[in-house]
Amino acid sequence: MGEETAPIRIAAIADVHCYDELRGRLRYELEPVNEHADVLVLAGDLTLFGKPDEARIFAEELREVRIPMIGVLGNHDYEMNQEQTIRQCMCDAGVSMLDGDTTTLLIRGRSVGFAGVKGFCGGFGERLVAPFGESPLKSFVRVGQTEAEKLEAGLRDLRHRGAVDYLVAIVHYAPIRQTVVGESPELFPFLGNSSLCEPIDRYEADVCFHGHAHYGTRLGHTTKGIPVYNVARPLVRNYVVHTLQPTGSPVAT
Ligand SMILES: [Fe+2]
Ligand SMILES: [Fe+2]
Repeated sequence: MGEETAPIRIAAIADVHCYDELRGRLRYELEPVNEHADVLVLAGDLTLFGKPDEARIFAEELREVRIPMIGVLGNHDYEMNQEQTIRQCMCDAGVSMLDGDTTTLLIRGRSVGFAGVKGFCGGFGERLVAPFGESPLKSFVRVGQTEAEKLEAGLRDLRHRGAVDYLVAIVHYAPIRQTVVGESPELFPFLGNSSLCEPIDRYEADVCFHGHAHYGTRLGHTTKGIPVYNVARPLVRNYVVHTLQPTGSPVAT
């Protein structure tokens, strides 16, 4: 198979929840990704308690990864209000950290655009929480809407101005209900927000990766049939590899 027609392989993992006891182990788990994929996506909850030291340990574990890395933060990374330090630590380790912005990689002559946000809670579909009643509830809803708008802006920019060959969405919270199934139904509203799914469908992303639902379901699809992977480490154990075919049609693996 020629270089130009070889499929592009995207590895993804979330919810690594790095802390001291994972030192040495993550390095061992992640090193084979150099052979298995062209890029590694880290979909949030990089740390256990949002401590900068946990991020530094993770950064050290990533030293063996030689392919490009792209990530978003998760809710755990905000726990100590040290998210900017964690973000910087990841950037220093060579990870392109996205928060409403985008990055594009040229892989074997084809451009792959990545848009990423953390996302937020709120629920799904007809049960998506509505901005009605008390101010705190309206503020809660607004956070989710803002995250979806940030993702929308990134995907729109890549699709129209970037004119990329492939489009990848990275979020921490789930954009569809399907991939949180397996968790307690009472938790569903806190595991994702279907507002995140609208831009993924509208701009016809090729694939989406998320985490956060540790006991959810590995693979689901948006209403337009776009594959959505839940790559939470407690669920998938190690990174998942998705292959983008040369035609542009995604193939789930
Ligand atoms: Fe998590
Ligand atoms: Fe999370």
